[in-house]
Amino acid sequence: MRTVPLLDVVNLTKQFGGLTAVNEVSFRVYRDQVKAIIGPNGAGKTTVFNLLTGVDKPTSGTVLFDNHDIAGKKPHVVTKTGIARTFQNTQLFANMSVLENVMVGRHARMNCGIFRCMLGLPAVRREDAESKEKAHSLLKLVGLEKKADKPADDLPIGERHLLEIARALATEPRLILLDEPAAGLNNEETACLAEIIYKIKGNGITVLLVEHDMSLVMEISDEVVVLNFGAKIAEGPPLLIQQDEQVIQAYLGQAVHDA
Ligand SMILES: Nc1ncnc2c1ncn2[C@@H]1O[C@H](COP(=O)(O)OP(=O)(O)O)[C@@H](O)[C@H]1O
Ligand SMILES: [Mg+2]
Repeated sequence: MRTVPLLDVVNLTKQFGGLTAVNEVSFRVYRDQVKAIIGPNGAGKTTVFNLLTGVDKPTSGTVLFDNHDIAGKKPHVVTKTGIARTFQNTQLFANMSVLENVMVGRHARMNCGIFRCMLGLPAVRREDAESKEKAHSLLKLVGLEKKADKPADDLPIGERHLLEIARALATEPRLILLDEPAAGLNNEETACLAEIIYKIKGNGITVLLVEHDMSLVMEISDEVVVLNFGAKIAEGPPLLIQQDEQVIQAYLGQAVHDA
């Protein structure tokens, strides 16, 4: 029998004026799973992430994370609860270095208040050194350690996604949400991304991702949720999803059907 889900989304709904972007969507994510959300553009995938992370407030429905209702909570509260995310349109601090961007994520976990930091107390300096070391190790995990001192703005789009993954990991999440992490990556880089996601999973962090690269989704996911016009039309293991007539018609198309 399965244990309590880490994330339990029940009848989640979001209306923007007359548009129902997310319509009564329910799904569960269990610890140590890699779960994917797929669907055509405009299906409501990013809105689901926004509802899970406090960027948007649900119109109705509940979001239980580790049995706590987090629906409608502010983003920083959600981060502290243990959910981190990356953005489809990356949101980095362009003028900061690659390393500093990761340290910003780390800050969400640090104990020192701003005044103690300014006083430069030994405990604070130690915390800062530890934080730097941790940030370097996360850059190594995503393969960006050689770019630590470059401005984040210098990175191509694919590497920005990787940097956002490192920054999200710096908040020490139990669940990480990745919004189209393979966008802008070539085949070789996508293979590296798969390795990174396996490592994240290996570190005991559960992964929920939105992704269009179907070979990546089918390779790394334990389960897939399919959205279309805001509603869930299918959920299950990748092999079954690939053969689902409704999913093929809505999203996967003839190419997969013929394969
Ligand atoms: N803040 C918003 N205000 C109004 N409409 C929005 C907003 N965010 C998303 N939408 C609409 O909700 C629908 C789902 O968008 P989105 O979640 O971004 O889709 P996906 O990520 O699956 O491509 C789209 O029709 C989009 O235009
Ligand atoms: Mg999106």
